[in-house]
Amino acid sequence: MTSDPSRRNGARSRSIAICVNDEWHDVTVRPRHMLVEVLREMIGLTGTKDGCEQGACGACTVLIDDDPALSCMTLALDCDGKQVRTVEGLARGEQLSAIQQAFLDHGAIQCGFCQAC
Ligand code: FES
Repeated sequence: MTSDPSRRNGARSRSIAICVNDEWHDVTVRPRHMLVEVLREMIGLTGTKDGCEQGACGACTVLIDDDPALSCMTLALDCDGKQVRTVEGLARGEQLSAIQQAFLDHGAIQCGFCQAC
């Protein structure tokens, strides 16, 4: 057994910096750590849902450098130095974004699975 705390299950952890909703975070991740885990468990933003974990439902969708991406299918290591926007970062103060307001107006539920069909 190794005494190196950066190694877990034989894989070396690495520190990365991710800008989430205009705030930079330094996090230490393992090679197989997915972005959704970092957002929810390390940064504490639980608006991004961990639904199917297979890239099928879209509940984990975030914007990475302004492009939509499935955070359950995105390695956290690949987000080093990138800009990530979650649902929490869409509103401007008390003003909901257009997509948030549309979800509210039409009674959309959290996962978005039914909107993807
Ligand atoms: S959790 Fe379903 S696509 Fe990511």
